[in-house]
Formats: sequence, structure tokens, C-alpha cells
Amino acid sequence: MFLIQIVNIIFCITCGYSENHHHCVQTKSTDESCDALKTTEPSMALVPYNPNNDVLAVFNKPERVFRFVEKELKIPQDWNNLGVAAVVWDAAIVLCEYLETGNVVLEHKKVIELGAGSGLVGIVATLLGAQTIITDQEKALPYLTKAVRNNLPDNFKDKYKVQALDWRGDLETYTETFDVILGADIIYIEDTFPDLLRTIIHLSNKDTLVYISCRIRYTRDSNFLKMLSEIFDLKKVHVDRQRDITIYKGKKKIHSTQK
Ligand SMILES: C[S@@+](CC[C@H](N)C(=O)[O-])C[C@H]1O[C@@H](n2cnc3c(N)ncnc32)[C@H](O)[C@@H]1O
Repeated sequence: MFLIQIVNIIFCITCGYSENHHHCVQTKSTDESCDALKTTEPSMALVPYNPNNDVLAVFNKPERVFRFVEKELKIPQDWNNLGVAAVVWDAAIVLCEYLETGNVVLEHKKVIELGAGSGLVGIVATLLGAQTIITDQEKALPYLTKAVRNNLPDNFKDKYKVQALDWRGDLETYTETFDVILGADIIYIEDTFPDLLRTIIHLSNKDTLVYISCRIRYTRDSNFLKMLSEIFDLKKVHVDRQRDITIYKGKKKIHSTQK
């Protein structure tokens, strides 16, 4: 066992991936749940290998407990089997903290969360009074649905929906636009950037407020913000230096011809 771990660590140092991503490394060309790691470039890992990395210890916890909107939220995690969509990323925690300050009017607003993962942000937005649609890729829905259901009381049942929304897919089932679009740590797969942008444009009208909470890990991540800022007026509204997370707020440029 010890020998296997050593081999794994050596492999991860050479390829730049975290040792706990071995499930992704083994299957990285075929397993889409590991799409963050679908790259041949060692410097592109979402969680770069670092022997002192306590992030992985946090991801390996089967459950995270948070307190938001005076409620204890217990979010299950399954990093080893489900990967990036089944853990809580710092960007989500920081966005929840920001929402809780009341800086974003959510009460009775139509809100959609993109790439929700564990659904923490959608849960908090719902508790703050929004009518939410919490979305992710189809394969992430069983885990997401369970996490959301377990944390929202029964009397919130008609306040939220958990639905599939793949940025790369057909957006025609989404016929309405939203007051607020939320996304935490969704800027990380360069291949998806044009479709992510297309999705945000499709779901927004001239008054929609878009909040993107992110850690800029690589130059490519800033490229997405540049793409977004061609269509949306983009402002930094919050920086959490300790966790290296920035929240951007966007609103469609007045002269934008996009819907
Ligand atoms: C780094 S995780 C962030 C999860 C969660 N928002 C958080 O911050 O804890 C990125 C999320 O984006 C989702 N995602 C990746 N590609 C997607 C796509 N093409 N369409 C929809 N969601 C996608 C993943 O399934 C995953 O849940």
C-alpha cells in the first residue's frame, strides 16, 4: 500500500496532478467527471500537486458543515468517486458569504445557478428568498439533487428546482431569462468557455445581474473574463484575499446586441 502511494506521488509530481486525483489520471481521456484534468499540460490541474496541500484533506471529508441564513447545512462530498462536482469549492463558500451580506437582492427574484456542484450557493440563495433553478450536467444531478433536498426544508419545495443544464448543449428548453445568474468556480475548462458565455448570454436580459465567483488559476481563466467583459460591464465587487477568490458582477452592456 505504502509502495503504491509512493509510486502515485512520484507520478503526480511528474504530471502535476494531485495524488488524490489518481482516478482522474487513470481515466482522464475518457471520464468526463474528471474533465478539469482532461489536459496534457501538467500546469493545468485544478488542484496542483503540493505535498502540504490541505485542500485535499478537506475534499476527502465525507461531509462539510456550514452555517448560513441561521441554518446548519450539511453538504455531502464524494471526491474519490464523483470528482470536482461533488465537493464544495472555496468560491462557493465566498459567494454564499457575499449573498448573506444582503449585497444582492434575492427575495422573490428568479435566480439560476450554473455548474452548481454540491448546490451550496443555490441552497443559500433559496433560503434568502429567491426562486431558484439549480443546474449542472446530467451526470451530476443525482448527487446535487440529494444535497439540495437534504438541506432545504419541505416548505421550500416550490421555491427551487434542480435541473440539467449543460453549457455545451441545446439551450432551447430554457426559454426564460433570469434576474440573477450565479456561478462559483465554473471558469476552469477552456474548451467550455465559448459555450459558457453563450449560456450566460442566453439566460440574461438587459437587467440581469451575473455574479461569478472564481479563483484565477491560469491565464486562460482571465481570458474567459475578457470574453465576458465584451458583452457585460464587469466589476469586481468582492475580493477574499485569504482564500484567493474574487467575485465579479456583470450586467449586459447597453449597446450589446445580444438579447
Ligand atoms: C469546480 S466545480 C464547482 C462546483 C460548485 N459551483 C462549487 O463552487 O462548489 C465546477 C462545476 O462545473 C460543472 N460543469 C463543468 N462543465 C460543465 C458544463 N459543460 N455544463 C454544466 N456544468 C458544467 C461541473 O459539473 C462542476 O459541478
